[in-house]
Amino acid sequence: PKPDLAATPPMGWNSWNKYKCDINEAMVRRQADAMAASGMKDAGYKYIVIDDCWQKSRDANGNIQADPERFPSGIKALADYVHSKGLKFGLYSDAGVLTCGGRPGSRGYEFQDARQYAEWGVDYLKYDWCYTGTMDAEAAYTIMAKALRASGRDILLSICEWGDNEPSKWAQAPGHMWRTTGDIFDAWEGKSGYSIGMTNILDKQVNLWSHSGPNQWNDPDMLEVGNGGMTKTEYEAHFSLWAMLAAPLIAGNDLSTMSEETLKILTNKDVIAVDQDPLGQQARRIWKEGDLEIWARPLKGGDRAVVLFNRGAEAKTISVTWDQIDLPAGLRAEVKDLWSKAVTKGVKGQFGGTVAAHGVIMVRITPRV
Ligand code: DGJ
Repeated sequence: PKPDLAATPPMGWNSWNKYKCDINEAMVRRQADAMAASGMKDAGYKYIVIDDCWQKSRDANGNIQADPERFPSGIKALADYVHSKGLKFGLYSDAGVLTCGGRPGSRGYEFQDARQYAEWGVDYLKYDWCYTGTMDAEAAYTIMAKALRASGRDILLSICEWGDNEPSKWAQAPGHMWRTTGDIFDAWEGKSGYSIGMTNILDKQVNLWSHSGPNQWNDPDMLEVGNGGMTKTEYEAHFSLWAMLAAPLIAGNDLSTMSEETLKILTNKDVIAVDQDPLGQQARRIWKEGDLEIWARPLKGGDRAVVLFNRGAEAKTISVTWDQIDLPAGLRAEVKDLWSKAVTKGVKGQFGGTVAAHGVIMVRITPRV
């Protein structure tokens, strides 16, 4: 069976959103340094994952080779470095003959590549879906899952099919997480080639909640917080909503130069605690009227997490009633605002507030007798 490596959603950093193919070993080491020193590691982030374009070719024996110009010390040395910081190391490949970036894929080399990853000390594999032709997705991911298990090392499998083959129906057996959509790009909404904005990704999560849970997470793609395309309010909404979705929290910005503001968002421990709640129950959208929405999820021990979400261009008041979140109407609760940190005691029947344009109010509601 699949190793138990993701009791709660994986947290880490990945090179793609910020760097695309412009990667090298010095940059990756800087990310590991920053993750360890900035407070990210203390907040729960642990994987440093190199995405596409680290590969160059295969040698005469079919062994995959890193790009010698960009990774002159080799992948093993980089993995050792990441491990020396108390972090875990992730790598990327593709189920087809080539990766999306045109590098060698793993098709036909699954077991050989998995053995190589294990030798290098890889802890996490993101496995993409380009150049797969008529391959069956479930079969292709199952082969790599078996190869990883046969490698003798515990390696988390992040399935990067983009939702077309409905991975939420089969990816629980081979994988620990699976993408639900095409790529995110760093914008509130819209489309850029194959990529879609943050709220467009969110819309595609509405009906997927029942497939997710401990060791098997829906992945609405990586975070854009700190990459510059959204405002602080919008990034807080992005981070809050991803936490409500029990999404893997994979930062995609340059950790070595990020602002205090970005760090504060990415390390908000109350919001992370919702994402990492051991019950692992993804939020549902329980109400929507025009631009206004309420998302809610039950937490272990009976608390509720609620996001009041305003997609509109003007501030609006939104309220949630206890009835909507399965609490007795007469119950008194303590309500903590997870961004302002304000605590209101003795709240009865409902809770509301004025939600900024493109913003959220995110609260944790604790029943108190
Ligand atoms: C498509 C994936 O969805 C992205 O996250 C990224 O891994 C690129 N491929 C890399 O080419």
